Amino acid sequence: MYRARIISTGYYLPERVVTNKELEKLVDTTDEWITTRTGIKERHIAAAGESSSDMGIRAARWALEKAHMKPEEIDALICATATPDHSFPATSCLIQKALKFTNAFAFDVSAACSGFLYALTVAETMLLADKAKTVLVVATEKLSSVTDWTDRSTCVLFGDGAGAAILKKENGERGILSTYLKSDGTLSDLLMVPAGGSRKPASEETIKNREHYLRMDGNEVFRMAVHKMIEAVEEAIKRAGIKTEDVKFFVPHQANLRIIDAIAKRLKIKPEQMFVNLYKTGNTSAASIAIAISEAEEQGLIKSGDIIVLVSFGAGFTWGGIALRW
Ligand code: UT7
Repeated sequence: MYRARIISTGYYLPERVVTNKELEKLVDTTDEWITTRTGIKERHIAAAGESSSDMGIRAARWALEKAHMKPEEIDALICATATPDHSFPATSCLIQKALKFTNAFAFDVSAACSGFLYALTVAETMLLADKAKTVLVVATEKLSSVTDWTDRSTCVLFGDGAGAAILKKENGERGILSTYLKSDGTLSDLLMVPAGGSRKPASEETIKNREHYLRMDGNEVFRMAVHKMIEAVEEAIKRAGIKTEDVKFFVPHQANLRIIDAIAKRLKIKPEQMFVNLYKTGNTSAASIAIAISEAEEQGLIKSGDIIVLVSFGAGFTWGGIALRW
């Protein structure tokens, strides 16, 4: 059976690490509050001039090197980001320019924290429909560019980084086993950046009102994230014809350890089956799962033939699950 398989991954985290202790100096918070309420201890923050495409380029370059591939071999490039370098051109085109993907068509996918899963699903569809032979998916975010560093309820949560995956169509058991994507636009105002788009272009007033920064109803987002990620895991597993016991690792969106624990408890997933790296990354939105799987592979935790389930939830709301055999 033909499947789309991730043949290589890479990731990049910016050099600068900001600890909870440092945030204590910025806003009225404590390391203890952040750790107990989220599990996050530190996050990487991009340098001032470092953009989402810059980070995506680093992650993509590593994935290419690991695959021993030349840039010309990539014929489609999909970038998932909620923090593009510009409204246009697409961030994928900037990555294309830098890495000389001369044979590729490139476009962005906007699904916030679910962006990587949405992009993987588009890649799978294109590969199985023979619209592309080799697809590079890059998920990259500079959340710090939309973080309100005076708002303690959000600024402690996010981090910057990028992950990349190269996919090919192959005949065999390995590759994507099932996908499940869903969204509900009626809840879009619970997590958004209010200004800077066509609804509210930048003006003195929007800047004064700090409307270019991310705003979130944390409690409601938390509740929905647990509910919808449970649904996504159940659906991805059902569609793949597998059981939770068959899964080596669940790789959930790294937003909050309490969300991950609640999902594990409800689905009777053992702690050792949950891959967690948010302690050191914070919530990197679309990049979170892409970084996590690349890191897990790098650490030798995922081996050929292992079943992995990716699960996401984000602004929109968007959510999804993907089961795959590594
Ligand atoms: O990527 C997908 C989108 N994001 C998420 O999935 C995030 C979902 N939400 C969450 O992770 C959690 O709701 C938060 C971590 C954002 C908040 O945790 P919580 O346990 O739901 O706290 P809360 O909002 O109910 O606030 C409890 C208290 C409040 O004080 P009072 O009203 O009880 O006096 C807040 O003002 O904690 C206060 N608080 C803080 N205290 C110290 C809020 N932020 C902080 C802070 N430090 N950073």
